[in-house]
Amino acid sequence: MSRRFVLCLTLLLASLLPGAPAGAVVGGKPVPPGQLPFVANVTIGGSFGCTGTLVAPQWVLTAGHCGSLTGSLSEGLLPSPAPLPASAYALTLNTVYASGQGGEHHTVRQVRVDTDYVPTNGVGNDVTLLELDRPSQITPLRIVAPSARSSWLPGVLSTVAGFGTTAQDASAPPPQMQVARVPIQSDAYCAKAYPGGLSTAVDDGSFDARTMLCAGYPQGGTDTCQGDSGGPLLVSRPGGGIGLVAATSFGNGCAKPGKPGVYARLAEGPIRRFVQSVVPSALAPDPPSGRSCPRLPERLSFPLRLARGTRATRVRVYLGARLLRSYAGAGARRLRAVGVRRPHHSRFTITIRVRTSAHRTVVIVDRYTGCREVRTRREGK
Ligand code: ARG
Repeated sequence: MSRRFVLCLTLLLASLLPGAPAGAVVGGKPVPPGQLPFVANVTIGGSFGCTGTLVAPQWVLTAGHCGSLTGSLSEGLLPSPAPLPASAYALTLNTVYASGQGGEHHTVRQVRVDTDYVPTNGVGNDVTLLELDRPSQITPLRIVAPSARSSWLPGVLSTVAGFGTTAQDASAPPPQMQVARVPIQSDAYCAKAYPGGLSTAVDDGSFDARTMLCAGYPQGGTDTCQGDSGGPLLVSRPGGGIGLVAATSFGNGCAKPGKPGVYARLAEGPIRRFVQSVVPSALAPDPPSGRSCPRLPERLSFPLRLARGTRATRVRVYLGARLLRSYAGAGARRLRAVGVRRPHHSRFTITIRVRTSAHRTVVIVDRYTGCREVRTRREGK
């Protein structure tokens, strides 16, 4: 199939499908200029739109059905990883205006639909990664680390944003990106709201907790809508700042009571693994185990004074069993040994061995446990 044919087909089918996505969030408010610069307005074939998030300097994450040839034509009913041509896309970052005014404009170089975006996974694995023509100047928003799970448990008030419509039957998206807050719901609640298999109603699939989460008020009123697909669901991270947890996927209508919005679960499970395989830098790493100890210096410096009449002939500094430094023939009575600890280590031992001219070994052991220093000094042997 030629690219032009594919594009024509996309346009034709998009115009024939009932309720073809126009383009924002229901019950939200316009995003003030300058905010959420990492949210992308994605235009496909000049006809329909999606939203996305810059997750690495050259990669935008959007929905599977915004990248899959068959998925986009069928509005998600026929998933397959076969991508739309990269030339079909245009996207803007760093602007809240749908017109793209003042934004950073990009074309797309490569379209990578989740390899598990297939019919046997229902409407799950609804993710596409778009490689941009060139790296963006915007700071990307990374997917939160698995250890940050407490920041997106059911009940947490998350933030959703997008360039989609402000009502289910709106004919056009608003001129400005919208943002709203919706509580994350439990998997059990989501499964009850979307029990069906692939139902006949467009956008009404079944909930699969491995690859989805849902968010919304039981009474409805606030939700993502057509054109928001692929856009971010954000939370505050425990250490400060915001993180990306999920991407807008589907819903029955928009903002209906008992029908929360369903989002692709990015932060854990199969989709996290897919993202890891294509753009590992999109994932915020778990902090190294152990408590971080900001008050401990990273450069540790130890003054040593040897007994009268002895001089150092060799000084060795160890971190645990690892030799950090070795000074040969220092020839001095007063010395300073230096070691660099690895950040985030709350439990470690620095050992300094000094061989002296008197054929003695002076050993100094510094132990740090739970961010406190316990110094023991021992001479001998
Ligand atoms: N599938 C829609 C899109 O392509 C997103 C629908 C979200 N619906 C909802 N009720 N939260 O833009």
